[in-house]
Amino acid sequence: MFQSATNEIDDLKDLQFLVEVLYVSIDPAMRGWISDVENYSEPVPINGTMRSFGVGKIISSKHENFKVNEYVVGWLGWQKFSIVDESKIQIKIDPQKAPLSKNLGILGLNGITAYAGFINICKPNKNDVVVITTAAGSVGSAVGQLAKIYGCRTIGLTSSNKKADICKSKFGYDEVINYKQTNDLSNTLKKIAPNGIDCFFDNVGGIQFDAVMENLNVNARIVICGTIGMPSFPIPVGPRVNRTLLIKRAKIEGLLVLDYLNEYQEIYNKLLKWYDEGKLVGEEDISDGLESAPASLVKILNGLNLGKQLVKL
Ligand SMILES: NC(=O)c1ccc[n+]([C@@H]2O[C@H](COP(=O)([O-])OP(=O)(O)OC[C@H]3O[C@@H](n4cnc5c(N)ncnc54)[C@H](OP(=O)(O)O)[C@@H]3O)[C@@H](O)[C@H]2O)c1
Repeated sequence: MFQSATNEIDDLKDLQFLVEVLYVSIDPAMRGWISDVENYSEPVPINGTMRSFGVGKIISSKHENFKVNEYVVGWLGWQKFSIVDESKIQIKIDPQKAPLSKNLGILGLNGITAYAGFINICKPNKNDVVVITTAAGSVGSAVGQLAKIYGCRTIGLTSSNKKADICKSKFGYDEVINYKQTNDLSNTLKKIAPNGIDCFFDNVGGIQFDAVMENLNVNARIVICGTIGMPSFPIPVGPRVNRTLLIKRAKIEGLLVLDYLNEYQEIYNKLLKWYDEGKLVGEEDISDGLESAPASLVKILNGLNLGKQLVKL
């Protein structure tokens, strides 16, 4: 359960600065961050501030490299004002280059995740057949567009016809499957991609993962980016993929964007260039006020978001 609290703002120490938070990010990973099941980061402590990426404006500073009126993106938390030091900040941004909110979605951690996984693990070749789950979502839609930039054929999986339409009209997918309206997803994929799937960027796990794995091409590359379609505990048992990987000489690899934070600025610059050229767009689903953050998290975990889920403060 989340609770709101009001506290006095502490005095700044040397090398700290005070950021007025303008947008906070809502991410499926938060389900794991507030659970005590083993994960890649410490759980948010009881009565601690909810961990979150955010974008904000510096309004007071004791750090010579972070000046008042500059805009930053980083770990600001679900709060109106955030006292941080340099270690919590990913980049400074220029608000003239893109709307502030875009720096949390297509130009933010989700865009960075998409780029890191697709380029480093999928290693795309022109004409590769690429399948993406949560195709209309923040990470998925970025992967879909990157795959088109790299000359691939894209197949998106999503849960509604409305999202499927957006996938085609905004994100340029070649094919989209509403997995909730397909009785036999594996067979549907076989018809659309008879020669098999070269890259699989998976954000969900579970039955969608199983169906795609039945349709791999030889030398396929599979990115495990998210498991939102599976319970974290108890760990579900599914088909054993050992023989599939062997026969298809396929590679499967887990992705954690936090491993790429030292490349953030470099990847951001590439994404910004494509964004400027109109090759990358990002849908957003923005709610108002910090008090809407918990409900926004529930919304994303129910698949009801249409684009990057954000809260405007
Ligand atoms: N590894 C990393 O470093 C990293 C970083 C960022 C995000 N991620 C992962 O990437 C995935 C997408 O994140 P995002 O921020 O871009 O969110 P998103 O795709 O914008 O929103 C989440 C989407 O997940 C799908 N979903 C929700 N509940 C589901 C369920 N029970 N079964 C199947 N699908 C369900 C829905 O899409 P549909 O309606 O299309 O099914 C929903 O819209 C998540 O799994 C997230 O944890 C991983």
